This record gives sequence, C-alpha cells and structure tokens, in this order.
Amino acid sequence: MNLKYLIFIIILITGITLAEETKQKAVLVTGASSGIGLKVTEYLIKSGFYVYAGARKEEDLKRLDAMKNTTSVRLDVTVQSDIDAAVKFVQSQNRGLFGIVNNAGVGVFGKMSEVPDKDILWIHDVNVMGPHRVNRAFIPLLKESMGRTTIIGSISGYVTSAESGAYSMSKFAVEAYTESLADDLRETGIHVGIVDPGAYKSKIRAKVTMFNLTGSYDLNQELTEEQKKVLNAAKERNNKLKEPDEVAEAVIHLMTSDKPKLRYMVAPTIGAAEVTMKTTLGRVVQLNADQQFEYTRDELVAFLDELLKENSSEL
Ligand SMILES: NC(=O)c1ccc[n+]([C@@H]2O[C@H](COP(=O)([O-])OP(=O)(O)OC[C@H]3O[C@@H](n4cnc5c(N)ncnc54)[C@H](OP(=O)(O)O)[C@@H]3O)[C@@H](O)[C@H]2O)c1
Repeated sequence: MNLKYLIFIIILITGITLAEETKQKAVLVTGASSGIGLKVTEYLIKSGFYVYAGARKEEDLKRLDAMKNTTSVRLDVTVQSDIDAAVKFVQSQNRGLFGIVNNAGVGVFGKMSEVPDKDILWIHDVNVMGPHRVNRAFIPLLKESMGRTTIIGSISGYVTSAESGAYSMSKFAVEAYTESLADDLRETGIHVGIVDPGAYKSKIRAKVTMFNLTGSYDLNQELTEEQKKVLNAAKERNNKLKEPDEVAEAVIHLMTSDKPKLRYMVAPTIGAAEVTMKTTLGRVVQLNADQQFEYTRDELVAFLDELLKENSSEL
C-alpha cells in the first residue's frame, strides 16, 4: 500500500475515533467507590456516558480507572484544593462536563439531644457543603454544556425520628438548596434536580455502626467480639435491602430525559413511599391548622388538584 495512502487512512481512523469520543457526554460522580455512587457510575457507563469517578482511597481510584469509559478523580468534597484540581483536570480533558452526581455522603445517627456539635458540623460539611462546593466550582462548565446537576438526597429529607435528626438535618437542607439553585440557574439552561432514595444496600450502615462503636468511620479497625456482633448485625440488615438499581435508573432519567424532574422519590417499598407522602402532607395539615388564614378541606383539595395539574403538564 502506498505510504501516503496508509497515513491518510490512519489519520482518518484516529479522527473518527476522537470524534466518537468527544461525542460522549461526561458526568462527574462524587463518592463513586461504593454503594449508590458505584451503581450510578456503572449505569452511566452502560448508558453511553464518560464518567469522572470521584474517590479518595488509592485502591478505589485504581479500581475505578480499570472500568470502561471512566477516569478516576481524587476528590474529597470537604477539601477545596481537591475540587479545584478536579476542575483543572476535567478542563484539561477537553470533553467538557455535561453532568454532576453529588452522591458523596455520610451518616450520623444518635439521640438528637445528645449528638455532639462536631458530628453535626461534619455531616453538614460533607452532605450539604460538599455539593455546594462541587456545583459552584463546576457551574461554568455546566453553563457551556447546558448540563445537569443532581444530589442524592434521601426520604430522610422528609421523614425524621428521634435518632436520625442529624442525618435528616443535612438531607432537609439539600432539598432547600436544590430548589434554590434550580431557581437561580433557570435562565442558564442548567437543570438542577434531586434524587431521594429510601433504604438501599450500601456501606453506609456498616460505617455508621462503626462510627457509633469507635468514633471513627473507618471500616478497617480492630473490634472486640461484642462490637463485631453489633457490626455484623448491621451488615445483615444491609444485606436484606435491595441493590440500588432503581436509584441509578432515576439518575439516568434525570441525565437523559427531555423533561428531567426536579424531584425523584425512589422508595424501595410501598411502606416507605406511604410514610414519606403522609409525613409531607401531615406537615401541610399542621402548617394550616389554627392560623389566621386557615384553609378548609375543600380549598386544600382545590390547591392539590391545581398542583397535580401543573405537575402533569410539566412532565
Ligand atoms: N444507601 C441508602 O440507603 C441511602 C438512602 C438515601 C440516601 N443515601 C445517600 O446516598 C449517598 C451515597 O451513600 P451510600 O448509601 O451509597 O453509602 P456508601 O456506600 O458509604 O458510599 C458513600 C460514598 O461517599 C464517599 N464519601 C464520604 N465522605 C466523603 C468525602 N468527604 N468526600 C468524598 N467522598 C466521600 C465514600 O467514599 P469513601 O469510600 O472514601 O469513604 C463513598 O464513596 C449518600 O449521600 C447517602 O446519604 C443513601
């Protein structure tokens, strides 16, 4: 074969491959090392996205790098210099950035009246300030792509209990954050939404149990026989839960649909859905009761009909 012709063919093939690659939309997932973040990463890859997978530990970064169409990014969402480096890295890859899945999160559980300040500050640093820092840093890239950003919230952003207050505080906060940011960015073409799962299989329960037993979230610690039993019971409870496929499907809808939603509740059981809906409506009932402009039942139902109509025309 003529050398010039061969070079031409090579350039053509390389060009086509590069063009194919640049067509892939890129999404950053924080906390991609396990649980929901890992599942979302797998679903994004299957759906044709290129994933920047945020993780903190060397072994996780390597494992994520070995996945197809994935590049790991060292990213602790409480460390601004990690976030700044991630922005520079993503910019250097020349793919732009279409989406962000703010998934990284931690849990703190214990009697609300006794939770130490430092634990409440820590959970907000990760679960609330984390998404705020990451979104703020990447918004210029999302503006260029008219992309999408989401947070993995929780039905604990609607329902709480005596022992889940610290976690709920952080998840209630990201509900307000999401609504405000969606409003703020409406004119930019960036879509902002939140995915609110119930209980799905992940490492979060083992980590929270470890934290309660030892004061550290690290799963690789020496435990007494008694402590091991407590941790194993938490792992067993976790093993009975569903894999978070439904959560990942909601993220894919948010990233791909022509009409992405503001909120996606992903309840693993009808019971979880019912508690969330009733608690939320219960708040409306409490808010309305015994106040100067109290609405009647019929007026409330009329509001509900109006909102249902608005919502269905938006979908
Ligand atoms: N599983 C559920 O039932 C459930 C229900 C509702 C909402 N959620 C939410 O789903 C999200 C994921 O949790 P999960 O259940 O999948 O738990 P998980 O398996 O423990 O995963 C949590 C992820 O967040 C990462 N992470 C923690 N702190 C971080 C930080 N400072 N910077 C960056 N990454 C950090 C972890 O990384 P390391 O491995 O480095 O620690 C891990 O990748 C959380 O926001 C959680 O609140 C979970």
